[in-house]
Amino acid sequence: MKFRMLLLAALPLVLAVGCGGNEVRTTDNIARECALIPFPRVFELQEGGLYLDASTFAVDSRFDNASKEKIREFASLLSDCSGTRVRIKELAPAAGNGSVEGASLSFVLDDSLSPEEYSLDAGPQGAVVRASDYNSVLYSLATLRQLLPVEIYCCSDGSRCTAGVAKSSCKGVEWTIPFCHIEDYPQYSYRGVMLDCSRHFFTVDEVKRFLDIMAEYKLNRFHWHLTDDQGWRVEIKKYPQLTEVGSVRGGTMVGRDFDSDDGVPHGGFYTQDELRDVVAYAQELGITIVPEVDLPGHMVAALASYPELGCTGGPYDVRRIWGIADDVLCAGKDATYRFLDDVINEIADIFPGELFHIGGDECPKVRWENCPDCQAKIAELGLADKDGVSAEQYLQNYVTDHVRQTLAAKGKRIIGWEEIAEGNLDKNAMVHYWRGWKSVEETLCKFTADGYDVLMSPTNFFYIDYAQSEDRSSEPLSYNSTLTIEKMYLYDSTKLLSPEQLAHVKGVQANLWTEYIADWKQIEYMLLPRMFALSCIAWDGDERPDFETFMDEVRKHQFQVLDILGYNYRKGN
Ligand code: ACM
Ligand code: ZN
Repeated sequence: MKFRMLLLAALPLVLAVGCGGNEVRTTDNIARECALIPFPRVFELQEGGLYLDASTFAVDSRFDNASKEKIREFASLLSDCSGTRVRIKELAPAAGNGSVEGASLSFVLDDSLSPEEYSLDAGPQGAVVRASDYNSVLYSLATLRQLLPVEIYCCSDGSRCTAGVAKSSCKGVEWTIPFCHIEDYPQYSYRGVMLDCSRHFFTVDEVKRFLDIMAEYKLNRFHWHLTDDQGWRVEIKKYPQLTEVGSVRGGTMVGRDFDSDDGVPHGGFYTQDELRDVVAYAQELGITIVPEVDLPGHMVAALASYPELGCTGGPYDVRRIWGIADDVLCAGKDATYRFLDDVINEIADIFPGELFHIGGDECPKVRWENCPDCQAKIAELGLADKDGVSAEQYLQNYVTDHVRQTLAAKGKRIIGWEEIAEGNLDKNAMVHYWRGWKSVEETLCKFTADGYDVLMSPTNFFYIDYAQSEDRSSEPLSYNSTLTIEKMYLYDSTKLLSPEQLAHVKGVQANLWTEYIADWKQIEYMLLPRMFALSCIAWDGDERPDFETFMDEVRKHQFQVLDILGYNYRKGN
């Protein structure tokens, strides 16, 4: 279905409707001001508006308790903001279009819709939301918040209005949504952001704040990069040294100077209880967490904790500089495979999602080439250089397949950075494409033609550790490449792939590596507003309005939302 945004009113009547504030607006400007992010797949605005405060919501009794609770929360938010009481009635499924006599807003469970799909019809008789599942209820509520005056967010920042007493900023606001027809569903089932908590540790509360803003814009996967050379961040009961030793590095290089060291210890890790807490929090927001243990490279923090797992036996120091380390897990020792199984099993028990990210990127083979254990394993497995792929790369394939089987026994499916597909890879694995369009013919086209499902994070469109402007004087220190919001928004996935190949692209994800991140405020700055472009790409696919329309909407409405919620973001072009 094509993106449509129609304004059905013919004349510039004067109306008081939601979408951007409470002042009186004309139909001339409503259309633009009501552009939602992400854009609904079908959005038709009509003349007039519907008051939602002091009204009654009807909720289909067949919804699960979690969905009902979210609708109740929305009613309570509206009550708090408006200072009036919004009532909820639970009703048996309604006949006809689902609208309920006397209810201003009715929520109807509609099994005929796809997962995550919802629709909204608002007219003089009231509004009806049709939703298929928990996430689609969440998305309908996010859309309703965007249709309402932006002050709706005043009460949702944790400092909730006292019940019945509106915040001063909410006084006099008319809590209306415009009459409209919306049909909405995502292009991709995987709509993600990755946060690297190894290079820089962030607290549980900070991670939750990250999840909050993702969810508000209909993103549904959080890829959590939990281990790397510079810090191990997850408690593993069988291997306590991982957090006792591996979670702290003694210092960090300064800026881009690889010869420097600030000598300031940096550390932190999540207990398994904390991880479970974040999992539950994310689930409530409709977000599935994809945990990552990066293996067999990017493992120096683990080697510092258990040097016997390396080819040389160490000693190793939790890495203080960025870049790629030659020291990786020894693939020739039985202890390595026991270690991987134990670690993965503990982590898999915490995260209920199907996907488990096993990393697999940037694994130099220099240690394996010189290690008697690794070479003995290569001989035992009968591996040899073949088809331009080295015996050592086939050894990495063997490690990958070992963990794939361990995870399969837990009902999990592996995803890994695209290097896992060099050589042999099980067809059920998902390939995480990242090295950019330059290698698209030899990699992405090949993966999809070979039948692999792919997640798209090409560096040149989705690496949000890159600076947001060529003018570095206005930007914080970052990875030394540029990704403007415009470049990101203009990402076009369709031009190189056939429809059959495109069907294997399951989603898109922005990656936020944290080598050059100073603090949490900078995380928000790197994420925002680029996350809005991601959200539109992920939800709308290639059916997006032009960049100017998008940016106009971001500036007019979303910046106000971010201001109210207190997020730090880049304001320039
Ligand atoms: C990566 O950026 N090394 C996946
Ligand atoms: Zn070895």
